[in-house]
Amino acid sequence: MTMKDISLLISPLAKSAYFADYLTVAQAECDAIFTDTAFTHQRIGTFDFLEATLNDDDIQKAMRLSFAQGIFERCDGGFQPLASDAGFRLHEDFVVGAKYKGKTNEMLTQLLLNIGLAHMPDSAPETLKLLDPMCGRATTLLWGMRYGMRSKGIEQDPKALQDLQQSLKKWTKLHRQKHQLQTGFVGKANKQGKGKFLDFQAEDAGMRVIHGDAREAAELLKDEKFNLIISDLPYGVQHFTTANTRNPLAVLEECADGWANCLKPDGAIVLAFNSYQPKRAKLIECFAARGLHAEPFAAPHRMSEAIIRDIVVFRRS
Ligand SMILES: C[S@@+](CC[C@H](N)C(=O)[O-])C[C@H]1O[C@@H](n2cnc3c(N)ncnc32)[C@H](O)[C@@H]1O
Repeated sequence: MTMKDISLLISPLAKSAYFADYLTVAQAECDAIFTDTAFTHQRIGTFDFLEATLNDDDIQKAMRLSFAQGIFERCDGGFQPLASDAGFRLHEDFVVGAKYKGKTNEMLTQLLLNIGLAHMPDSAPETLKLLDPMCGRATTLLWGMRYGMRSKGIEQDPKALQDLQQSLKKWTKLHRQKHQLQTGFVGKANKQGKGKFLDFQAEDAGMRVIHGDAREAAELLKDEKFNLIISDLPYGVQHFTTANTRNPLAVLEECADGWANCLKPDGAIVLAFNSYQPKRAKLIECFAARGLHAEPFAAPHRMSEAIIRDIVVFRRS
């Protein structure tokens, strides 16, 4: 297979997602996905690139890197842009269009998916089922749909379903997207809206968001099994957990059995968390008690005085 010297242009949005640590996070994503390839940083003017020598299959994969704004072949002392079609479904507005307090950065969300996929035994994303047990207004699930996945999410905020429904109506109308949107209940309909769900299907992919508590995942999901469990946990700053404690660990301790139970044997859990609370070691202890070990991947990045966000990946031991 022919090899090409390529340069990946790092999107300026990586700086808003990861601040001063954007280069190390981009490098960590490359290292997790291309385990045998060295990437080196190159700065030209104000542009940052990661450079490597890749074959055509890997170039195709590189088009889905979360930080990559463009991909170039280096030849004759110049940069030749390579036509890049990452093959995503749905317009990107479905993921990036909605703006609300507490939304997970869209680039980080794609990074979490890519890291999860890198830990899957060679499965096409279209065959995988994804769960976000603290899904907010579904950034992870919508990204999952762009990859062709079938996804489910749980969210405690009673307003989330309504906001999401409005936003989906807006983007489907604007982009003339054929779709199905339906509501229903897991179990009996009730005035409190517990177990109420919103289903959205389009482009042969789909998602369900259920109003409920992540501690009751196993009941709400009727013991369904997922390949990937991906979540951006509350940071104890803007979002609290149900117990209204700043440290989400107490709630995670109550969630972990249910989440481990929802995971297929070769599945992976990918969590973004504020490493001030819980500490990485505490999070690892919590899931180790459920027979899950932490993989080596980490991508710590300082977001503010109170938040150093990191990522941890768990698999069955
Ligand atoms: C960091 S936010 C995730 C935001 C989401 N990724 C998005 O972009 O909309 C964490 C979410 O966890 C939810 N949450 C916290 N504790 C929960 C629980 N016990 N059950 C379900 N959701 C919970 C919060 O309401 C919040 O929406």
